[in-house]
This record gives sequence, C-alpha cells and structure tokens, in this order.
Amino acid sequence: MHSIATSCPKVSLSNGLKIPIIGLGTSHHGGYSHDAILYALRECGVRHIDTAKRYGCEEQLGKALRESGVHRQDLWVTTKLWPGDYGYDTAKQACHDSCSRLGVEYIDLYLMHWPDAMVPGRSNREVRAETWRALEELYEEGVCRAIGVSNFLVPHLQQLKEDCSLVPQINQVEYHPFQQPEHLLAYCRQEGILFEGYCPLAKGQALSHPVILQLAQKYGRTPSQICIRWSVQNGVVTIPKSTKKERILENCQVFGFELEGVDMATLGSMHDGRHMSWDPTHVE
Ligand SMILES: NC(=O)c1ccc[n+]([C@@H]2O[C@H](COP(=O)([O-])OP(=O)(O)OC[C@H]3O[C@@H](n4cnc5c(N)ncnc54)[C@H](OP(=O)(O)O)[C@@H]3O)[C@@H](O)[C@H]2O)c1
Repeated sequence: MHSIATSCPKVSLSNGLKIPIIGLGTSHHGGYSHDAILYALRECGVRHIDTAKRYGCEEQLGKALRESGVHRQDLWVTTKLWPGDYGYDTAKQACHDSCSRLGVEYIDLYLMHWPDAMVPGRSNREVRAETWRALEELYEEGVCRAIGVSNFLVPHLQQLKEDCSLVPQINQVEYHPFQQPEHLLAYCRQEGILFEGYCPLAKGQALSHPVILQLAQKYGRTPSQICIRWSVQNGVVTIPKSTKKERILENCQVFGFELEGVDMATLGSMHDGRHMSWDPTHVE
C-alpha cells in the first residue's frame, strides 16, 4: 500500500510550524466514520485531521486517534470554536473542553469558526476581538500551537489586525473551482496568513462537471484528484472529506502528477461564485 506519509508536502505557517498540505475533513450529518479515520491514519499515512466542536465528533475522533497508535507529535489536529462560545472566558473553557473530548493536551490549530458572533447588544467586531485575545493567550500558554480563523473576509481580518496583536496564522475558507476568492487569497498571502480551503470537491458537485471530467481523462486520474491537485498546486492547504476508505486513499494520491499551466488556467477560470457551505459576505 502506498502511504502518503512521506510524500505529502507540508507548508509553513508564519510561526514556523509545518502543516501537511492535505488533511482529512470530518463533519456532522454522516461525516464521521471511525473505521475511515483509522484507515486514513494507519493505511494512507494521513497525519492531518480537521474537525470542530460543531461537528459533534471530537470524542469519537479522540478514540480513533488513540486507537491508531500514531504518536501525538506526528499528528496535526485542527478543531474550531463555535460562535456560541465566543467571549474571553467561554472561549478558553471551550478550548479546554475540546482538548478533553479529543483526549489531547494541546491542539495544533484552533480556529474561530465563523465571523458572526451573534451576541445581542454587542458588535461582532468587539466580540471577535475579545475572543481572539483568549486565543492569543491559549497560544502563548501552548494549549494551541497555532491559532486562526475560518470564513473571515478581508474587512474581518483588517479589524482583527487593528484590535489585536497577533495576526491569525490560518484562514480556512471555502475553495474549489466554482468558489475562488482571489482577493481574499491575495490579502491573506500579503499578511502572512496561510490560506486553507474547505469543500475542495464542491461537496461532490465539481465531480460531474465536463471540464473536470475531461481533465480526469487527460491525466488518467479521477475527477476528485483533479480538484484536489488543482487546490494543492495553488499552495492551498486542502481538506477533502470522505467516510469511504477507497475515496480517502484516492483523495490522498495527488502527488505523482502535475497539472499543466494551461489546465491550471482553465480551472482557474471556472469561478461562478456559488457557495456549497455558508456565505459570510453580509456578516458585519
Ligand atoms: N470551516 C468551515 O466553516 C467548514 C465548512 C465546511 C466544511 N469544512 C471542512 O472541510 C471538509 C470538507 O468539506 P465538505 O465535506 O463539506 O466537502 P467536500 O470535501 O468538497 O466533499 C465531500 C463530499 O464528497 C464526497 N466525496 C469525497 N471524496 C470523493 C471521491 N473521491 N469521489 C466521489 N465523491 C467523494 C463525500 O462523500 P462520502 O463521505 O460518502 O465519500 C462528501 O459527500 C469538512 O469535512 C470539514 O472538515 C469546514
């Protein structure tokens, strides 16, 4: 069995840590399979898992991580803080609770999940900044090895920069051929914020698009591998989700080939603005 452990490149965060460019996503609504996680860790050499308190599977994931036998220091575990826990004290408590559920002493990457704080009578900006200060302290204490945000747009990032001292190390955002937020990507790169893309397969919608099918045929790869390859070839940390073993293996095998410049350009022109997940455009 080919393992990606040695072949999956890592990319550097602004603090020098290195994250595997491919991670395995998890989610609620049938997005978690214990056996699939074990298979990914043991047979495919996957070392990066993305989860969130919101997905309700941290405890199960913790069991799978321990059962896999993979050393903690060889794993990259990302989890996320849900807006219901925003605020200084509640954010700190939520982080420690996530650690307990996952059975880990530290989290590799802790993200504010969504820019809308949803606290009546207080501005989002104020609550985001207060929450971020808790994350900064969790980072300084070593409870989180890296901290970041998710679904933040340029104005949210600019406000955080003005209000706080540490720039997020990662912004995790929807990214696939139909959703290419180029302005946000450029801003993140300019500010040293690593860009991480979720829904790389557009939740499966990209897999039947004629252009993707044509490229799959040209390269002798699957449509999923074309989408993931395009994303990683753009330097984007990419977290496809599957609960099926054969698909997990397929989604890992994207390093033995390269898309030609002309095909990268074709895929790069497929943006139509559609969101498969949520759209933060109107969050103040
Ligand atoms: N930060 C955020 O707000 C946010 C939002 C959404 C997602 N995420 C993260 O990003 C991860 C991925 O996003 P996503 O699951 O929404 O979308 P996705 O990875 O684009 O697509 C997943 C869907 O594609 C199917 N699939 C996976 N590999 C396949 C393959 N090789 N061939 C055919 N179908 C395949 C999966 O079904 P099966 O499972 O049945 O294989 C699932 O239905 C999530 O798990 C989560 O960790 C973060």
